[in-house]
Amino acid sequence: MKSKATYMKRLKEWLQSTSESPLEEMNDFFTKRLDDYEEHMSVWKKSYHIFAETLPLECRKILDLGCGTGLELDEIWKKNPCIEVTGVDLCQSMLNKLLEKHPDKQLNTVCQDYFQYDLGYGNWDAVISFESLHHFLPERKKELYRKIYNGLRDGGIFILGDYIACCDEEEELLYSVYLKKREQSPIPNNCFVHFDIPLTLEHEKELLKDAGFVIEKVLDNPDNATIITTRKG
Ligand SMILES: C[S@@+](CC[C@H](N)C(=O)[O-])C[C@H]1O[C@@H](n2cnc3c(N)ncnc32)[C@H](O)[C@@H]1O
Repeated sequence: MKSKATYMKRLKEWLQSTSESPLEEMNDFFTKRLDDYEEHMSVWKKSYHIFAETLPLECRKILDLGCGTGLELDEIWKKNPCIEVTGVDLCQSMLNKLLEKHPDKQLNTVCQDYFQYDLGYGNWDAVISFESLHHFLPERKKELYRKIYNGLRDGGIFILGDYIACCDEEEELLYSVYLKKREQSPIPNNCFVHFDIPLTLEHEKELLKDAGFVIEKVLDNPDNATIITTRKG
């Protein structure tokens, strides 16, 4: 495990070395990297396994926001092959790969921005999201968390596995670089870009609680994704 000081030093070096790299539009970013995507994400192998273990067996109807090629779903289906999944993602090529991998599963894919997706009311046993929401500002997440809350059945759960900033300094630094890069970028403000702007655990939990969620469990391991399990109260 790296110390916070070492981690921040490396982050600053990386930001410096990529300071001239232009922002990329979200869909283009993932489409271009599709061939190497799963290999690249294999560093999270342990986290995908823990994430799947976190989902209670009684959950049958699941919504996965930003499912991509479904690395978390690969693990979830190993444990429970009978669940019914709706996977929402902006990127059709990622969804095509997911569909190719799992032709035999109860899987419905929706190529759409999850902020625009209609989750309905009381529909889902569980909503899950892994390594997707750290690309968005708190205002957007707040609105989505409320929709997720309403979309869940009573007692339903939302499990968020994500990149969480280790401290206020990391959150503030990445946010300031993001603002600067957006200012310099020709990509219009209403288009999503791929850049990490994670919140600290404290700020992420505040947003979830504001939406009405009860935080049940946090697996906060700096070498893995942070996994926050919440329940509709
Ligand atoms: C790092 S990948 C994670 C994919 C998958 N959950 C996994 O862990 O392998 C992030 C995914 O979020 C999707 N995404 C980002 N913003 C989105 C949005 N607003 N609506 C839907 N999908 C989005 C991207 O297209 C990408 O497939």
